[in-house]
Amino acid sequence: MNTIINVLSGFDQAIAMLRNGRLVAVPTETVYGLAADATNTSAVNRIYEAKGRPDFNPLIAHVAGLDMAEKYGAFDDHSRQLAMEFWPGPLTLVLPLKPQSNIAKPVTAGLETIALRHPRGIMAKLSAGLGTPVAAPSANSSGHLSPTLATHVQADLGDKVDLILDGGPCELGLESTIVRCSDGQVTLLREGGLPVEDLEKSLGFAVQRGTNNPKVEAPGMLLAHYAPRKPVRLNATSVSSEDALLSFGHQSTEGQPVAHLNLSENGDLTEAAHNLFAMLKMLDESGAVSIAVQAIPHHGLGAAINDRLRRAAHGRTGKGELAR
Ligand code: TXA
Ligand code: MG
Repeated sequence: MNTIINVLSGFDQAIAMLRNGRLVAVPTETVYGLAADATNTSAVNRIYEAKGRPDFNPLIAHVAGLDMAEKYGAFDDHSRQLAMEFWPGPLTLVLPLKPQSNIAKPVTAGLETIALRHPRGIMAKLSAGLGTPVAAPSANSSGHLSPTLATHVQADLGDKVDLILDGGPCELGLESTIVRCSDGQVTLLREGGLPVEDLEKSLGFAVQRGTNNPKVEAPGMLLAHYAPRKPVRLNATSVSSEDALLSFGHQSTEGQPVAHLNLSENGDLTEAAHNLFAMLKMLDESGAVSIAVQAIPHHGLGAAINDRLRRAAHGRTGKGELAR
């Protein structure tokens, strides 16, 4: 049996477990992560096993700060500027991997790049306590919605995780924004909790968009991700009595749904991001046959919300891949 323990009282136990190569679910400001010592190969392999994650899909290494990150990734002027402005925070930088680093090979899935993030809160403190980066994907089975509550982790992974640190609901509720910085270019690999507009304002130029090439994009983005069990329909303006409705603001919808939740009555995208995964999970567990979602504005955090909803609506194909 694993234990769910308050994040503050469980800190020492979490450090001891990570040192012993065990898996600990840890809250971050984005979503809960499934953490292991990023320098311990067998511990990192256990993450892949617990999630049922394909071995070509690399993990994010969470660090205690820029100094630690510089030991593993080759920063250029852009990446250093972004780290200084947005860390600790919901930004992951994919950088050339420094040779001879002691990072366990499965963290990078054998790529010559490494994804680095200095998160807010307990995850960074664990990294500082260990003196090494902490490898952590979202703490869900591969293809499932990311967890924003400790109970989501328990329900999805159960005994596959040795300890769950409970920090309450994650502040942002959406995974980090991922950019690749190399050869003087900045390329967006995944929209997330840091709006692209904020990145571009800081850089003073537009970031490049992904190329649809799995070798250069975040490999995980090609998989069917964020898929509830029930079919999801976007931009709904009417519902049937078999639908659960996920609404936003005060838009009107024809018909009477069997269940109804509002991402944000006030039309606030930050609140909507915070509620997105928890509400999708609740509607997925309702008596409805399908989930209808109202339109969400596409600016700011709306871009990342719409990305996750598009993936949820696509569901899983027979091949387990998401056609983009
Ligand atoms: O907010 C987050 O990012 C959360 C918390 C726990 O930090 N983590 C998270 O991890 O969402 P995960 O594994 O669910 O998503 C990480 C994504 C995957 O799509 C993976 O393919 C991509 O990052 N990635 C990791 N290393 C990469 C690399 N070297 N090059 C390109 N993409 C990479
Ligand atoms: Mg994930």
